[in-house]
Amino acid sequence: MNRDELKKAAAEKAVEQVESGMVVGLGTGSTAAFVIARVGELVAQGTKIIAIPTSERTAQMSRELGIQLGSLAEYPRIDLAIDGADEVERSTLNLIKGLGGALLREKIVAAASKRFVVVVDSEKLVDHLGHHTGVPVEVAQFGWQATAAAIEDIGGRPQLRLREDHAFVTDGGNYILDCRFDVIKDSAELERKLNMTVGVVDNGLFVGRTSQVIVASDTGITVLENDRNPRG
Ligand code: A5P
Repeated sequence: MNRDELKKAAAEKAVEQVESGMVVGLGTGSTAAFVIARVGELVAQGTKIIAIPTSERTAQMSRELGIQLGSLAEYPRIDLAIDGADEVERSTLNLIKGLGGALLREKIVAAASKRFVVVVDSEKLVDHLGHHTGVPVEVAQFGWQATAAAIEDIGGRPQLRLREDHAFVTDGGNYILDCRFDVIKDSAELERKLNMTVGVVDNGLFVGRTSQVIVASDTGITVLENDRNPRG
């Protein structure tokens, strides 16, 4: 199977958990797009859900498929959220997210969800976070250079994310600093330190939030459960 087929297989497995009457958080990215497509099929067949989108992109795709959208103002508690990730740490199921730029809304939706299911292909599994990618950090536009300097002080090497020669701007109107760290030994501590840095809105480390990871590989689907997560 090619990578897209693997993403689709993981996505479809996760959507088996969607039931009529649920409020469902819909993630962002190429894997989440397969989730949204499958949810669209279920809705067309009569399944009734309210979806909370994690980005304008996801909202638009959902509307096109006839999926009813709601907001956190109306539905502050979500039954199930399904999203992709950029890296999954095997031993903890902690994540790096945000290469697609939607990390803030994704984290708010994950935090509001009773159950947070992550769908990936096996190339995203790593022994230690930060193996392939830096940590995306969403920062206020004002004084971002000072925020970047403060991130250097805690061991990061920040780079302003660009799109076609301009700074990339998130749905929330902020910038993203992609920050490499030598080795991320303690992701909970790094998540805290980053979020205590003035100017940081949030960061792409998702620590202790994952309920389950569905991994697709050439040998089939593997389901990794987070037994330590009280949310189930
Ligand atoms: C979006 O901001 C990200 O957190 C995505 O969930 C993540 O980048 C995974 O995207 P892909 O499924 O496209 O790899």
